[in-house]
Amino acid sequence: MTRRIHALPSQLVNQIAAGEVVERPASVIKELVENSLDAAARQVDVDVLQGGVKRMRIRDDGMGIARGDLALALARHATSKVASLADLEGITSMGFRGEALPSIASVSRLTLTSREQNSDQAWQIGGEADEPQPAAHPQGTTVEVRDLFYNTPARRKFLKTEKTEFRHLEQVLRRLALARFDVGFKLAHNGRQVFSARPAASLVEREKRIAALLGQAFIDNSLRFEHEAAGLRLWGWIGLPAFSRSQADMQHFFVNGRMVRDKLVSHAIRQAYQDVLYHGRHPAFLLYLELDPRLVDVNVHPTKHEVRFREGRLVHDFLFRTLHQVLADARPEDVLPDARPPGAEAPPASSHPGGARPPARVGEKAAAYQPSFAWQSPASPGADRGQGTLPPMPAPDEAADAPPLGYALAQLHGVYILAQNQEGLVLVDMHAAHERITYERMKQAVEGQGVRSQPLLVPVSVRVSPREVELALENRDLLAELGMEVDALGKDSLVVRAMPTLLEGADAEGLMRDLLADLVTHGSSERLREAMNEVLSTMACHGSVRANRRLALEEMNALLRDIESTERSGQCNHGRPTWTRMSMVELDKLFLRGR
Ligand SMILES: Nc1ncnc2c1ncn2[C@@H]1O[C@H](COP(=O)(O)OP(=O)(O)O)[C@@H](O)[C@H]1O
Ligand SMILES: [Mg+2]
Repeated sequence: MTRRIHALPSQLVNQIAAGEVVERPASVIKELVENSLDAAARQVDVDVLQGGVKRMRIRDDGMGIARGDLALALARHATSKVASLADLEGITSMGFRGEALPSIASVSRLTLTSREQNSDQAWQIGGEADEPQPAAHPQGTTVEVRDLFYNTPARRKFLKTEKTEFRHLEQVLRRLALARFDVGFKLAHNGRQVFSARPAASLVEREKRIAALLGQAFIDNSLRFEHEAAGLRLWGWIGLPAFSRSQADMQHFFVNGRMVRDKLVSHAIRQAYQDVLYHGRHPAFLLYLELDPRLVDVNVHPTKHEVRFREGRLVHDFLFRTLHQVLADARPEDVLPDARPPGAEAPPASSHPGGARPPARVGEKAAAYQPSFAWQSPASPGADRGQGTLPPMPAPDEAADAPPLGYALAQLHGVYILAQNQEGLVLVDMHAAHERITYERMKQAVEGQGVRSQPLLVPVSVRVSPREVELALENRDLLAELGMEVDALGKDSLVVRAMPTLLEGADAEGLMRDLLADLVTHGSSERLREAMNEVLSTMACHGSVRANRRLALEEMNALLRDIESTERSGQCNHGRPTWTRMSMVELDKLFLRGR
C-alpha cells in the first residue's frame, strides 16, 4: 500500500485550527469581542440564543471593515494587526494570528456585516452568495454565528447544557468588561437582558461596575492601590485577607488588558499573602499589570491565556513586593469605613463621603494610605450621642485626632474588647489581636537585634523523649537566637532556663513542647530556619493574652493603639480577623431607630 502526501483542503485546515481556539460558545464570544475591542469599539452588544449554541450575535461600533477586505477577514492567516516579526514582538492588540474568523466560520454558519468608518454603505458576506451583498448596518461590525458545531458532531457532543454553556459565556464577557472600563457592554440571553455596563470613566463608576460584576462585598473588603516602578505599573484591588475564599474563583489578573492565568503571577501573589491567609484559603483580587508590550510574549498558546515575561524574575519580585507592602500597610483606618463581613448590607451612601478611598501608594511611606475618616463626616451621629459615665471618648472638636479604633469600654466574657470610636462600636478579639502584634514584634526582633531573652527565676523542667532531647541539643544555637535557653537534664528531660522577654509570663513548658514539635516536623535547623515565621507564630501564640484574662482599661487601650500601629494587624497569624465594628447607623437600623 502506498501512502501519498497531499495538502489538506482549506475547510479541514480551518476545522483543525478551530479545535484549538473554538471549544465552546464562550470561546467564540472571547474571540469576537476581542476583535471588536481591537477595532476601537466604544460599545459591544452580545445577544445569544440557547446558551450561544443556536445563535450568537456580536455587534460593535468600531472602525468596521472595508468591502474589499471582507473576504480576507474570513481567510486564514489574514490579519490587519501585525505585518512583521517586529510587530509580533510587541503586540498591542488582542488578536494577531488571523485565525479566529476562518476557524469559527468553518464550524458554524457565519455572516459578517460591516460598515467602515466614513462609508455610507454596509456590506455582508457569508451565507450563499460569494460576493459581498449590500446590507443595512450603522458604522461598525456585526458577526452572527449560528448552529455552532453543526458540521462537527464529535465536537458538539462535548457541549454541556444550555445553562452551563451560557454560564461560561457570561463569565468571559464579565471578564472582558473588567478588562476594559472604557467600553460599554451588554449581554442578552434568549431575549432577556442579563447585564448592561456603561463605559466607566471615574473611580466611582468603575467601582460600581466591579460591584455589579464581582459583588459589593468585594469592593467593601478590598484595598485599592497603584504602584509604578522600573517601567512596571500595577494597580487594582486586593481583597483583605479576612475576605479570603475557599476557592480561587475571584482572581482576575490582566496584563496589558489581557486576562491571563500565569504560574509566575499566581506564585508571586500567593507569596505576598503567605503570612496573612488562613491555611487553604484563596485571596480575591482584581489586578492590572501594565508594561512595555515588548517585555511580554503573548504568542505562547492559541487561546493566549498564558504569557511569558521576558524578565520573569523582575516581574515576580515587583508583584510580590508591591502586594506584600499593600497588605502590610493596611491599617484599621483604611479598612474601617468599609469593614464588614462579606455579604453584609452595603452602607448607606452617606457613610462614603466623596465616594471611594484615595488609592494607596506603595513605597513612599509618607503618602501611604490617606485614611478617609468617613466617620468624621457631619452626617455621623456619633458626635451628639450622650457619653454616659464612660470615660475616654474625646470631645467632638478633638475628633480629628481620635484614634481609629477609639477607646475601650469593657471586656466581654473575657474574650472581646468593646470599644467606641467616633463611628460607633468596635469589637476586638483580644487574643487574636495580641497574637498578631507579638508575632510582628518577634519577626522584627529576629530580623534586627535578635530576640532579647530573660532568665527564668525558677527554671522549668520538661519531660520529653530521648529523640527530642537530642533535637533540642542539636538546635541549641537556634533556640538561643529565639531567646530560649535550654539544657538537658538527663536522657529524657530538658530544662528551660531563659525565655524571650517578649513572651514574659508565657507557659515555658507548653512553648518548649510546641517548638520541639516544629523541630520534629521540619527535621533540621536549616529547615526550621526556613519555616521561621511558622516558629515565631507558634511562639507568639504562647505569649499572647489568653481568653479569660481580665484586662484593665489602660491595657485594653494600649492593645488598641498597638493594633493601629502594627503591620498586618487586621488578621491574626492564622488569617482570622482581629477586629470588626458596627457603626451607629447600623446599630440604629438594628433597632429600627429613625434618624
Ligand atoms: N469587529 C471587527 N471590526 C473590525 N475589523 C474586524 C472585526 N473582526 C475582525 N476584523 C478584521 O478581520 C481580521 C481577522 O480577524 P481574526 O480572524 O479574528 O484575526 P485577528 O484578530 O487575529 O487579526 C482582523 O485582523 C480585522 O482586520
Ligand atoms: Mg481576532
